[in-house]
Amino acid sequence: MYGPEQGSENLRTELAHFLSETRGLNVGAEDILITKGVQMALYLTAQILLTKNDTVIVGEPGYSGANEIFEQAGAKLELVPVDDDGIDLDVVESICKKKKIRLLYVIPHHHTPTTVTLSSERRMRLLEMAKKYQFAIIEDDYDFDFQYSSSPVLPLASANYYGSVIYVGSFCKTIAPGIRIGFMVAPSNFLLQATKLRKLIDRQGEHLLEEAMANLLKNGDISRHLKKANKLYHERRDELCRLLHEHLADEVSFKVPEGGFAIWINYINKHDPVRVAENAAELGLTVSNGIDYYHDKNFKNYAVRLGFASLNTTELKDAVDLLKKAIKKCYN
Ligand SMILES: Cc1ncc(COP(=O)(O)O)c(C=O)c1O
Repeated sequence: MYGPEQGSENLRTELAHFLSETRGLNVGAEDILITKGVQMALYLTAQILLTKNDTVIVGEPGYSGANEIFEQAGAKLELVPVDDDGIDLDVVESICKKKKIRLLYVIPHHHTPTTVTLSSERRMRLLEMAKKYQFAIIEDDYDFDFQYSSSPVLPLASANYYGSVIYVGSFCKTIAPGIRIGFMVAPSNFLLQATKLRKLIDRQGEHLLEEAMANLLKNGDISRHLKKANKLYHERRDELCRLLHEHLADEVSFKVPEGGFAIWINYINKHDPVRVAENAAELGLTVSNGIDYYHDKNFKNYAVRLGFASLNTTELKDAVDLLKKAIKKCYN
């Protein structure tokens, strides 16, 4: 027999406990749909909510993997700047006053690509605005589990009085991108539609993998893993920040991220990130060329994300040395 299209009941039950303990989400197994990563959850949501020419607000810079999904569903994007406290809500409000917004997409923790966290004040204001202007919010919390400050800000969905938030997350960062288990938490009528659509695309999820994940959650392995991983990544974040200060203070500026896997650096001397990436590739170092971050391709970007999570201390040092050489080559 096929299993339930909403995903393994054991997994949804364990996940409901996990989401409640880690993020204050007051949900049960029935409120969750298991998806193939965040990506599928975004796709399902866009297909259900959007019709041609609907307006979707996204952050700029932002996650191109989401922007493409919204455009593919026929939507028009409104690009809103992201500052140190997250997406700029004054700009969001001015857009809402002028036109009907169907959906707002937000990455509340360690925004891709800038790594900033949406402040508590903005979270509450955003929920109020969703109610006032009647738009839905997709909260993409792909990275919640990696927080290095003592008290993480809770998701919008944990204070979701009005049922306007579709919360999506994943184990693809918690364990590995190849483990394609993600989840959607949404109001029941929406979840039902998403479950039906998921069934059309993929009759059911990977049952064995889902059961294995349920066991890992139940016996505490995921929590233990996260504790260890957070400690290690915290050290690696600090080490990369230290190395950048020590070796590249004249070339890059950055803010220390509160969590996640990357540091958003700005090339102070306005080197073209494409050129730096090409120079780095010749030296054997892979660095982002920064071209996917801005939807507006005319924007001249001088910033890139540097990932630190997979590099040990020696590798981080080597990487910073090579990056320094790649930047120096831009002066030739
Ligand atoms: C903001 C954001 N959302 C979603 C994803 C994709 O997540 P998943 O692998 O769970 O589909 C990524 C991948 O890096 C991401 O940065």
